[in-house]
Amino acid sequence: MNNQEKIQDLIQKRQEAALGGGEKRIEAQHQKGKYTARERIHMILDDGSFEEFDMFVQHRSHNLGIEKEHYLGDGVITGHGTIDGRIVFIYSQDFTVFGGSLSETFAQKICKVMDMAMKVGAPIIGINDSGGARIQEGVNSLAGYAEIFQRNIMASGVIPQISAIFGPCAGGAVYSPALTDVVIMSNNTSYMFVTGPKVVKTVTGEQIDTEELGGASVHATKSGVAHFRADDEDEGIMLIRKCLEYMPQNNLEEPIQTVCDDPIDRLEDTLNEIIPENPMEAYDMKDVIYSIVDSQELLEFQRHYAKNIITGFAKFDGMPVGVVANQPNYLAGVLDINASRKAARFVRMCDAFNIPILTLVDVPGFMPGSRQEHGGIITHGAKLLFAYGEATVPKVTVTLRKSYGGAHDVMSSKQLRGDLNYAWPTAEIAVMGPKGAVEVLESRHINALPPEEAAEYIRKKEQEYTEKFANPYEAAKFGYIDDVIEPRNTRFRVIRAFKTIAGKKDTNPPKKHCNIPL
Ligand code: HXC
Repeated sequence: MNNQEKIQDLIQKRQEAALGGGEKRIEAQHQKGKYTARERIHMILDDGSFEEFDMFVQHRSHNLGIEKEHYLGDGVITGHGTIDGRIVFIYSQDFTVFGGSLSETFAQKICKVMDMAMKVGAPIIGINDSGGARIQEGVNSLAGYAEIFQRNIMASGVIPQISAIFGPCAGGAVYSPALTDVVIMSNNTSYMFVTGPKVVKTVTGEQIDTEELGGASVHATKSGVAHFRADDEDEGIMLIRKCLEYMPQNNLEEPIQTVCDDPIDRLEDTLNEIIPENPMEAYDMKDVIYSIVDSQELLEFQRHYAKNIITGFAKFDGMPVGVVANQPNYLAGVLDINASRKAARFVRMCDAFNIPILTLVDVPGFMPGSRQEHGGIITHGAKLLFAYGEATVPKVTVTLRKSYGGAHDVMSSKQLRGDLNYAWPTAEIAVMGPKGAVEVLESRHINALPPEEAAEYIRKKEQEYTEKFANPYEAAKFGYIDDVIEPRNTRFRVIRAFKTIAGKKDTNPPKKHCNIPL
């Protein structure tokens, strides 16, 4: 070959690689309502920014006839590009090549971009669409998975790791996404499970289909494995880009502040009216969040899971902030096992990536009952307590209404290094609610009263308790609350609080690692 022929040969090889498993399989992929691995990359990254690595890698297996079949790139497309001008590394499994199954060389390609992402200090995005371990590769495939897992673990808390599941993700393959910060699943076209329906049937006799066992709905509502359920891949891709907007490139950088055209001193009169007079009545915490964040934008994590707590990214004067808020509209905003786990993981992610945390409190306490106790609410509740206490990022807390008992301590209280703790005048910060307190303290006396007098006595005692304890001023008296603020002023006060404490430093003692109650 002369030089011109060599150049033509390169162009031809690139074209061959671009076709993956061939046009027929690409067509089949589209028929299923899925994009190809390459299309996904081009949609995720800024136009023209993708640079591919290892396009000419091929598998090295000689088992079961696979030695006769080779595809340039071997079923995974890897490289780097930019999102909003910031470098990211990416890999995208190509279902058109051996069903996107993972070979030794496939794993090596992924490990290479993960290593580069770590060296550079840039996020890594993984697109999953794979039949799992490549059967012909045997233990080399298992070893390849473990190499990826190890890198996921080392990268955890160092660079943002985002996983999108846009097809099958089964067996041990599920554990790579599970180790990452964000898991996005596309509705109806993706599934994740450790063992598929056939094995489930054989081992347990249970008959269940793929969607019910591990579809996006299940993981978004029941298991909590998925942080986002996207209507389709387009939405999933938008979510990848959106998540990274709030995250820094790595744990040594701060999140990027953007220009904000929403006035910082915007007063929200509706907030002065939002708390119902009746403490048993609910309101929607999301109304509060939308009215105080920039441009009413909240990127909510696990929206359909443990709805009694809200977690999500928002901005205040263009600064990314993680919002954690009890939701009185769902189970009265109680802290239960799932809510504790959900919020704990979110708080730790924010802390790992220097994202300040705003906590909005309206919590009646921990969920009582044997199901919760036997399920380990003690350990799970401790996760959230631990996460807040360990976090060194700026923490602002606003108590809107109830803040009772252990849940008061847990929800970013002053003593857990809450930096600035505000309360609305409607706050009730106490050991327990008036009803419970009167029952405990007065039961002997109440039982001795004739029934016609008991009700009036209880009412009187509850009122007495409410006046004494169910307010923010007891806590403010001791300095546990820094200020009682007018609700309509909350946006301004929160922004000023974060600006004031932006440079604050908290440290944890040197240690190998903590022993969070997992
Ligand atoms: C090799 C595979 C493959 C695999 C699919 N293919 N999975 N090749 N190893 N694991 C190939 C098929 O032979 C086929 O090749 C092409 O990919 C597309 O597969 P189809 O079956 O035609 O596609 P579809 O009907 O859409 O079904 C997709 C599927 C099914 C549900 C993923 O292929 C499947 O069940 N695959 C096996 C899944 C599995 O059991 N994997 C191992 C899990 S254990 P042609 O040439 O016809 O296009 C595991 C352990 C990991 O992963 C452990 C980590 C610690």
